[in-house]
Amino acid sequence: MALEQVKQEKCTEFISDGMYHKLEALLQKDKKSPEMLIFVLQQAQNIYGYLPEAVLLRISEALDVPKAKIYGVVTFYSQFHLKPRGRNVIRVCQGTACHVRGVSRIVGKIKEELGVNVGETTEDLRFTFESVACIGACGLAPVVMINGDTHGRLTADKVPLILSLYE
Ligand code: FES
Repeated sequence: MALEQVKQEKCTEFISDGMYHKLEALLQKDKKSPEMLIFVLQQAQNIYGYLPEAVLLRISEALDVPKAKIYGVVTFYSQFHLKPRGRNVIRVCQGTACHVRGVSRIVGKIKEELGVNVGETTEDLRFTFESVACIGACGLAPVVMINGDTHGRLTADKVPLILSLYE
């Protein structure tokens, strides 16, 4: 897909900040084979932070892999994201211990504070809000992870202060 075509399709995110050129450089580096698909998708996601549709189409063309197969891969592996991600990722544990110790109240407070549901990202891209299975810190239940930080024995009233630590 030529740059002009990308522009016509109004994929502005695709061409901003030199991202388009980084992607093209990636695709020129002997990566033009279907076997390289997952590697190329990972690298493209590193460039963009997620995988915009225009990027998937360009990869499909460059690697000669059908679009349907690419969508099959990116929807199968949870490491790939089709929507923009927040600068900070909140992961609320939904394991049994956290459930028993009232994680639902924390989920409710985070929803109230951020105005998004689990699985969504705030409009300002400050936070992505996700849930995960047990993260292995059951003794600290209920647990919320933000980026690499573990916040254990959390209560709903502490949520605003903790969120304020992340810009
Ligand atoms: S159930 Fe939440 S850390 Fe194990």
